[in-house]
Amino acid sequence: MKIFLDSANIEQIRQAKALGAIEGVTTNPSLLSKESGDWKKIVRQICREIDGPVSVEVIATECAAMLAEARDLVKIAPNVVIKVPVTLEGLKAIKELHQRGIETNATLVFSPNQALLAAKAGASFVSPFVGRLDDIGQDGMQVIQDIMTIFRNYDLPTQVLAASIRHTSHFFQAALLGADAATIPLAVLLELIKHPLTDIGLAKFLADWAKR
Ligand code: E4P
Repeated sequence: MKIFLDSANIEQIRQAKALGAIEGVTTNPSLLSKESGDWKKIVRQICREIDGPVSVEVIATECAAMLAEARDLVKIAPNVVIKVPVTLEGLKAIKELHQRGIETNATLVFSPNQALLAAKAGASFVSPFVGRLDDIGQDGMQVIQDIMTIFRNYDLPTQVLAASIRHTSHFFQAALLGADAATIPLAVLLELIKHPLTDIGLAKFLADWAKR
């Protein structure tokens, strides 16, 4: 499973990159709006820092305007992936961008049906939001599993990118299901490293060494 960082903060991205685990970044309008400075410069900086895909979302809600934004976004760096919400207009935009050879990440996916339509339109990634489904009492991981089954049934090339990952168990379950990628906040990435037995074991090794 590829690991992407869900952040628009360059310091967080550098911190994650230093661990050697990050193969891409996902941003969204909420994450970018938290950062101060010119958002295009921030995106350019992220794209220089990370070799893999960097998702940047369109703000427009109408297909022609989405395509115009996408045209500008792809000029920022060759690894920009256009994030498009799965709406009627968004699906049209994904189809057009696919025909022009531009990579897309279909975002705000909450059902297998939405994911299938995005894949048919030619999305490179679909991003089911696991945590937000759990928040409303649904089973986000079941949606990931269902999408994976459907994509396998029809041999669809679109990658399943587990998003809205809130804790280590989401990450672990996505990997067990064989999701192509998961995008996680830095806090979750740092939690993945921890195990109490590692801390206890290290303390004992160091104490024994000090006694020699
Ligand atoms: C995915 O691409 C989104 O940026 C992100 O995972 C949303 O997560 P949230 O539901 O924690 O905001």
